[in-house]
Amino acid sequence: MFVVSLTVLDHPLAKHLITGLRDAETEPFAFRRLARSLTTMLVLEATRDVPLRPVTVRTPIQETSAEVLGCPLAVVPILRAGLGMLEPVFDLFPEVAVGYIGLERSAETAVARSYYSKLPDFGGKYVLVVDPMLATGGSASQAIASVKQSGATQVTMVSVIASPEGVAKLQADHPDVPIVVGALDRGLNEKKYIVPGLGDFGDRLYATEH
Ligand code: PRP
Ligand code: URA
Repeated sequence: MFVVSLTVLDHPLAKHLITGLRDAETEPFAFRRLARSLTTMLVLEATRDVPLRPVTVRTPIQETSAEVLGCPLAVVPILRAGLGMLEPVFDLFPEVAVGYIGLERSAETAVARSYYSKLPDFGGKYVLVVDPMLATGGSASQAIASVKQSGATQVTMVSVIASPEGVAKLQADHPDVPIVVGALDRGLNEKKYIVPGLGDFGDRLYATEH
């Protein structure tokens, strides 16, 4: 089957922001700010193909033809870390519909367990699934399957950092889903953390590192 694209942001600012996120010395308040800025860049890239609809607008000078967004958007953050990517989506697309999926990886097996789901009908919507870390790809694959079950036909996965293993899993399970990431890292360690990665995104975002 045809496998759609992986896009890695290629912008100096994206690289600069990701370096700040990777730095173990970055405090939670700065980490949140960096995550917000980078998510704005990721979401702009991920929505490049949103269809447009022609309209007529009257400027102070004259009437002219113009364009507006042609289909409604939806975003699905994967709890908990994905919540750190939600506010920038609101800033860019204030009308966006929001679905929530709660998944937590087992510390032993790295297999994600579902603990919450609240999804709208996604029919006709351009859907972004947002989760900062695409490690084994298990969480993202489960989430996308649920989103498709709720009627989504146009889904894009948006992550801050991906591993080659996570990308391969998503492309195998959901070959129709484009992936937009800030960086593609080397691989996974024995605990299935991304290497070099940035550690546990949720813990760093919410100051729950122990
Ligand atoms: C992290 C991350 C992803 C998942 C990625 O969440 O935010 O959801 O792991 O790993 P995977 O690709 O191997 O499935 P975690 O389960 O630690 O929960 P949290 O967001 O509540 O911290
Ligand atoms: N979850 C994270 O937060 N970081 C990783 O590297 C892998 C999963």
